Amino acid sequence: MRRKLAKMTDTVDSFRQGRIVPSDLYGRSVPDQTVSIVTDALDKWFALLDDGEYSGEHALPPVARTVRLTLEQREVLCVDEQVVRLTFRASDGAPLAAWAPGMHLDFYLPSGRRRQYSLCGDPGDRGTYTVAVRYIPDGGGGSEEMHSLAVGTELSVRGPRNGFPFVPCGQAVFVAGGIGITAILPMVRAARTLGMDWRLVYCGRSRASLPFLDEIEQWEIDRVTVRTDDVDGIPTGEELLSQVEGGSVYCCGPPPMIDAVRTSFDAVPSTHLYFERFSPPPVRNGVKFEVQLVNSGRIVTVPADKTALQAIREIEPNVAYSCQQGFCGTCRTRVLSGTPEHRENRLTAEEQRDEMLICVSRSTGARIVLDL
Ligand SMILES: Cc1cc2nc3c(=O)[nH]c(=O)nc-3n(C[C@H](O)[C@H](O)[C@H](O)COP(=O)(O)OP(=O)(O)OC[C@H]3O[C@@H](n4cnc5c(N)ncnc54)[C@H](O)[C@@H]3O)c2cc1C
Ligand code: FES
Repeated sequence: MRRKLAKMTDTVDSFRQGRIVPSDLYGRSVPDQTVSIVTDALDKWFALLDDGEYSGEHALPPVARTVRLTLEQREVLCVDEQVVRLTFRASDGAPLAAWAPGMHLDFYLPSGRRRQYSLCGDPGDRGTYTVAVRYIPDGGGGSEEMHSLAVGTELSVRGPRNGFPFVPCGQAVFVAGGIGITAILPMVRAARTLGMDWRLVYCGRSRASLPFLDEIEQWEIDRVTVRTDDVDGIPTGEELLSQVEGGSVYCCGPPPMIDAVRTSFDAVPSTHLYFERFSPPPVRNGVKFEVQLVNSGRIVTVPADKTALQAIREIEPNVAYSCQQGFCGTCRTRVLSGTPEHRENRLTAEEQRDEMLICVSRSTGARIVLDL
């Protein structure tokens, strides 16, 4: 179904590309308005069918280049949520690859872990890349490692890559939860510069937990809503989308916020919903199955609501992973026996014959033997 939809979306894209007008401020093409109305309606239909989930096929091509960066500056942004802003420069002093709002980098950490962080600086600055990282105390160690980087440390990054495209025209409502503001911030800055009709709803547990609030509160007060759980309670999807009058919705935040926005989206007059997750999506329609790890012979039971990766990590904590969403390929594993149910579109049909991405793909019930 997904592949059929992708083909239909390609057709829509080819209509759109046939009516391109000159490039925008960022050097990208802006679609003709009349065509946008038609394609937007089709897109909304596709988005409803396709469930708006991340698809590498809709993302801009990543910059497939690894570059060495040196950490130039480290600032604590928000003591309550423990967010640090890290600014890097190319170790050889060369200009960095261009990026657009919504893009992220893959960081190769000194331990060998690989983690994604959204670029939240100025896309016009080709000298530095800036990210902001929230410390996750019970996470997999990646955020802790980013927090402990000392100024002068060198590491490699790959990208920028875009899984969260921003369309720099028309109306836009941005919904950000906590650290999700990193992906949204450059979009709103661009929307302001371009004179778009935009609104921002920014939520978190308390004001002290919200990074970048000092900058955001300098913006047009009638376009920004800051909601905190301690004062306003946890927002519903309807509340988050109450200012939508058309155009696109962009959302980045914790899983319950994304779920609430997705559920309420059908009822608002918006044509597109774009969202990005910083943590794995909940498993939907999973069944319990077994995985056997060939190196140890151990058998792991994967419960219906967990991923194979999560279950395997309980006995093999060093198994490699990164995005946990089926797009980076880090967890790609050879299947020695059994038939996986592939829940991604990164691997080709050929690759899917004897490999699977264990962060999302599973089995419909029978045991799978993995080369782990
Ligand atoms: C495209 C993309 C962009 C990202 N951009 C940012 C960013 O700009 N800033 C940033 O701080 N992080 C960002 N992340 C998350 C980041 O890559 C790491 O996952 C995060 O730093 C935690 O790393 P970890 O190794 O400690 O935990 P992981 O092993 O990555 O995750 C372990 C568990 O921690 C939980 N978790 C992970 N992230 C969060 C979170 N933000 N809030 C609550 N629980 C969480 C999840 O339950 C997850 O299963 C992004 C992720 C993706 C996929
Ligand atoms: S961890 Fe990225 S594809 Fe599985």
